[in-house]
Amino acid sequence: MTLSFDKPVRAVVTGAGGGLGRALCLELARRGARIVAADIDLAGAEETAAMVEKLGCKAFARACDVAQRPAVAELAEAATSLLGGVDLLINNAGVATSGPVDAIPQQDWEWIMGVNLWGVIYGCELFVPQMRAQGRGHVINVASAAGLLCTPTMAPYNVTKAGVIALSETMAAELATAGIGVTVLCPTFFRTRIIDAGRHHGSDSRASAVGKLMDRATLQAPEVARFALDAAAAGTLYALPHADGAWLWRLKRLAPERFYQQLLPRWLGKFTRR
Ligand SMILES: NC(=O)c1ccc[n+]([C@@H]2O[C@H](COP(=O)([O-])OP(=O)(O)OC[C@H]3O[C@@H](n4cnc5c(N)ncnc54)[C@H](O)[C@@H]3O)[C@@H](O)[C@H]2O)c1
Repeated sequence: MTLSFDKPVRAVVTGAGGGLGRALCLELARRGARIVAADIDLAGAEETAAMVEKLGCKAFARACDVAQRPAVAELAEAATSLLGGVDLLINNAGVATSGPVDAIPQQDWEWIMGVNLWGVIYGCELFVPQMRAQGRGHVINVASAAGLLCTPTMAPYNVTKAGVIALSETMAAELATAGIGVTVLCPTFFRTRIIDAGRHHGSDSRASAVGKLMDRATLQAPEVARFALDAAAAGTLYALPHADGAWLWRLKRLAPERFYQQLLPRWLGKFTRR
């Protein structure tokens, strides 16, 4: 069963205190949803909830650190009682680290794995039973084109996002007969606070190249949010909003070795030189 906005959708969005999470909440509100906006930053989530209410929809703000399983379990329980059930879970909360693989300290690997991978695993594990029981639901896991393209100096981020893609693919096959749809969102770059809030190691030329790519993006957070919800409503598994991500992924599948040894370094070089 695909997600439909004909009736008010009961949605939970993690990382809803800013960036894409906030844009997703606002787009959901435009489509008449009732929302639980969760974030480790409660003030940010409250601000988002107030913006949603200005658009005429009901929203509840909750504090939740997705890296902590008990906190996600509490969120699932609270959302079910506040909304009377959950039709749509968006596992959006995420953080970034960058640097050469041999320069990233273990605690930063653990930090990003906790938020980007375990956070999504907990969300799926703890919200899906309720969707199974009601015989319908949809999960949007926010990954990244980085999980498909594995760009240099982003190893921990790439590993977590590749894990989210693998989890989503597995769930799509596993849950198809349970009436639960799965979409994995894989944008390239768009401007948010993710780089400023991240942990970076080594030269900062890569972070500044990412900054340039973010500013030049053809689609920013509001358009990415719209694309993600349209993709979920269409029952799409792989949602790649940006054209550059879509063609780079196609190129990688056609010639994977040439992609990593020649094409990707050449393409990225263009941005670090400019
Ligand atoms: N901005 C991009 O270029 C880009 C590209 C591809 C994918 N993404 C993904 O989009 C998602 C949203 O990121 P964004 O770009 O909006 O970044 P952002 O930093 O603007 O927003 C991330 C939000 O997640 C929250 N958060 C961080 N740790 C958390 C935790 N432990 N528990 C709950 N909330 C937590 C932050 O407080 C923040 O509100 C992430 O999964 C990110 O990897 C972003």
